[in-house]
Amino acid sequence: MNPLEPAGAEPGPAFTVTLDGRAITALPGQTVAAALWTAGVISWRTTRGSGRPRGVLCGIGVCFECLVTVNDRPNQRACLVPVRPGDAIRTQEGTGHDGC
Ligand code: FES
Repeated sequence: MNPLEPAGAEPGPAFTVTLDGRAITALPGQTVAAALWTAGVISWRTTRGSGRPRGVLCGIGVCFECLVTVNDRPNQRACLVPVRPGDAIRTQEGTGHDGC
């Protein structure tokens, strides 16, 4: 096997989710983070206080840098949550709870 050649993955049909209302194409088996990356989005949260941009850091569910709101549930780790057809993903500010 040549590591420089594609692995030959054959995912199922693509489907649509939204990020802040914008349609994004995702594939079965992707995490929310993978779907956002594929769409060219690398930051989807801002920190409390300073409002600095954040996205994936560890990619394994440890650092909590990738928090995002999925289907009105804030603080979901985008690197762990499987993306599902029709998901409404929203960028998250601060704690993810409005007014905080
Ligand atoms: S990137 Fe570290 S928890 Fe998701």
